[in-house]
This record gives sequence, structure tokens and C-alpha cells, in this order.
Amino acid sequence: MKLYSPMKTYAPKKWDLSGLVGISDATLETHFGLYEGYVKNTNSLNEHLASLRQQHKNVGSDPFFAEIVRRLGFEYNGMRLHEYYFDNLAKGSPSEPTGGRLHEALGRSYGGFDEWKRDFMAVGGMRGIGWAIAYLDTTNGQITNHWINDHENGNIAGFIPVLVMDVWEHAWIKDYKPADKGKYIEAFFRNVNWSACESRLP
Ligand SMILES: [Fe+2]
Repeated sequence: MKLYSPMKTYAPKKWDLSGLVGISDATLETHFGLYEGYVKNTNSLNEHLASLRQQHKNVGSDPFFAEIVRRLGFEYNGMRLHEYYFDNLAKGSPSEPTGGRLHEALGRSYGGFDEWKRDFMAVGGMRGIGWAIAYLDTTNGQITNHWINDHENGNIAGFIPVLVMDVWEHAWIKDYKPADKGKYIEAFFRNVNWSACESRLP
């Protein structure tokens, strides 16, 4: 009798985001392709690990096994953070949340929505490749802005991503000069799907 189910395979999600302000369709097309690579690699790592388990080669001291396991954080987060990112974009979005609940929640620990936004933009403007994420701590209701290196370094276990912004260069380099990441961040805020963000609040 089998005591477990086979490893589940992830399927890439699809979005219709053409016509965003300041984030071109060409950028999105490339970006969707990169996202699909993370989905593919997540599935691939799980297949490799299943094969090693079957052969009883899942030995912690084995460098091949260990490197595949270490890679899970990069590929899984690369997949899931892109899903949060594309889910929190939409055409024709208002410049700030119209629902009072999200507006209040974002500004609660920063002295107001505008102060929270200024801080979030500053986090996104940091040098390096990664993500800016407004995370909710469900234990106390506080939202705080975080920088994530790559995809996996800086995420907080158990926190809920409320707003996720990709600041890897591939998210904007077709549309802006290398020194103009700030213009992409401003464009990002013209396309935030605030209702998607609000639906992430418990
Ligand atoms: Fe990305």
C-alpha cells in the first residue's frame, strides 16, 4: 500500500496584462517566459529528488543531492513570487487603494500610506537584484517592507506577501536606462492591482 502521493507538478499560470502604463508588452512577454522557466525548474528539481529517493541516493552528505535541495528555495520562490507579482498588476488601476482597510493597514506602522509608499519605493530602489515585498505579520497585524536578495534570501516564514514588486533588471531594462530603475518603480505604482493586494489580507 502506498503511504504517499506522487509529487505534484506545477503548471504555469497565464495573465492578460497588455497595455500597462510604463511596463511594455515586450517586457511582459519576456518576463512571462522567465517565470515559466522557474515553474519548469521547480518541477525538474522535484523529479530529480524523487528519482534519487527511489534509488536511495538521497544522502545528505552527497553534494549532488545537497545542491538540488539547496536550489529548491531559489526556484520555488522564483515561481511563486512572480505569481504574486503578476497577480498584483492590472490595467487602469487607481494610484492608491480605494478600500480603506488596505490603505490603513499599509500605513499603520509608517505614519500613513504616503510614508509607507515612500519607504517601499526606497526599498525597491536599493542596489542589487531581488524583490521589494510588503509583508504582513499575522501575529500582530503589522505590515513591514522587506528586501529579498535573489528570490529566497529575506523572505519571512509565515508572513503574507501583500504587495510584491520585482526589481530584477529583466523587469524593466527594456523600457528604461540602467540608471532609471526609479522610473520603473514609479510606473509599477501606476499599475498596482490594489484589490488583489487587499484580498491577501486575512
Ligand atoms: Fe522577474
